[in-house]
Parts: sequence; structure tokens; C-alpha cells
Amino acid sequence: MSYRRSIAIDGPAGSGKSTVARGLARMLGYRYVSTGDIYRALALATLRKGVDPTDEQEVERLALESRIELHETADGGQRTFLNGEDVSDAIRRADVDGVVSPVSVHPRVRAWLIGLQRSLANERDIVMDGRDIGTVVLPESEHKFFLTASPEERARRRHKEYEAKGRAVSFDEVLQGVLSRDAIDSGRATAPLVVAPGAVVIDCTNMSVAQVIGEMLRALGRTGN
Ligand code: DC
Repeated sequence: MSYRRSIAIDGPAGSGKSTVARGLARMLGYRYVSTGDIYRALALATLRKGVDPTDEQEVERLALESRIELHETADGGQRTFLNGEDVSDAIRRADVDGVVSPVSVHPRVRAWLIGLQRSLANERDIVMDGRDIGTVVLPESEHKFFLTASPEERARRRHKEYEAKGRAVSFDEVLQGVLSRDAIDSGRATAPLVVAPGAVVIDCTNMSVAQVIGEMLRALGRTGN
């Protein structure tokens, strides 16, 4: 059981969880941790080693022999390391997007990676985002949020990010990717994406990042209005 304070933010791909979590953490002076990067680092490892992402035994073996670390940056961001290599940029590539949800389905892999996430929450007060933070990783969190937006809006935001990085991909492809990850992340048997009991649900389809953070701060009792 952690004696640190923690805020859990769960939600589907492209809902803006990481941006909001980072901003909220900065305002509160907490550490920000985006747990999707842990699964992304493992997904990258499967691609590099030619491991079938649907083979639980092989993915588990890879998880056990890989050293995945999340480092906090001076500006409150996060860098992801795989066996000592900074893979923060590599884990955002399209090929990783394509295998990360299948890699994340396996119960034994998830059980192993939960230890890493909980140990981070024991070190510092934390704002942690993911899919199962409020339900499985930190169920004792006092404050839980579920951030969502329409699939079209989430795809639009992702598409904009890709364009900014010069990645040539059509809006329809991005939308299909978002819908397919939604289906796997919400439909899996272990730790599916669901609204945690007691979580405050925020639909941010028509909200700015500042508005979402403002709503969260109000829910935390941090503002007077
Ligand atoms: O947050 P993200 O889109 O970077 O997450 C990438 C994938 O990792 C997501 O599609 C499912 C998986 N994931 C998970 O299963 N559990 C988490 N707590 C975080 C991410």
C-alpha cells in the first residue's frame, strides 16, 4: 500500500491523457508518469527481436529480460529507456502503434509490468495515466479521472500530431487505428479499459487542455470556484 498521494487518469487512445496529466502534475508539484510508454517500449522490443506480439510466453520472456525505465526530465516530462537506450522517439512510430495493443493483452505480461508502475508511485506523489490505473495499478488512489472524447476528435488530434512530425498518413487510417486500439484495449479479458468506480468522467471533445485541467483541479478541491 502506497502512502504517497496519487491521481489516476485513464482513458482511450488520443484522449489527451498524457498532456493533461503532465500539466496537472506540474501544477500540483507531483511527478507525471505515462504508463503507455512502458507497454510501448515492450512493443518496440518485440519488433526488434522478431517476437510474435500475440505469443504470450514469448512476450513474457522478453518482458522479464528487458530493462524498461521511465526517467523524469527537468521540465516535468518523461523519457523512456529500453536496456539503457533512450527509445522515447522510437516508441511513437507507426509500427509500434500497430503492435502495442496486442502486446498489452497478456495477463502475465501485465502482472510483471504492474510492479514497475507501483514502485514509481511509492517514490513520489504522482499523476499517472494509462488504461487501468484507477482499476488495477493504483485502486487506492483518492482521485480518479476517466478522460474521453469522440473517436473522430481523438483521431483528429493524433492526425495533427503525425502531420507535425512529417508522418504521411491519412485521417481515415488514423481513425481506423484509434478504433482498433479501442476495441482491443476495452475488450480484453484482463484489466480492460473501463471507468473505475468513483472516477470523474470528463468528455473533452469540445474542451481545451486548460479547461480539462481546470475541471480536474475543481474536482480535487484546488480552486475556489
Ligand atoms: O497511452 P498510450 O496510447 O501510449 O498506450 C499505448 C498502449 O499501451 C495502449 O493502446 C494499451 C496499452 N496500455 C495498457 O494496456 N495499460 C496501460 N496502463 C497503459 C497503456
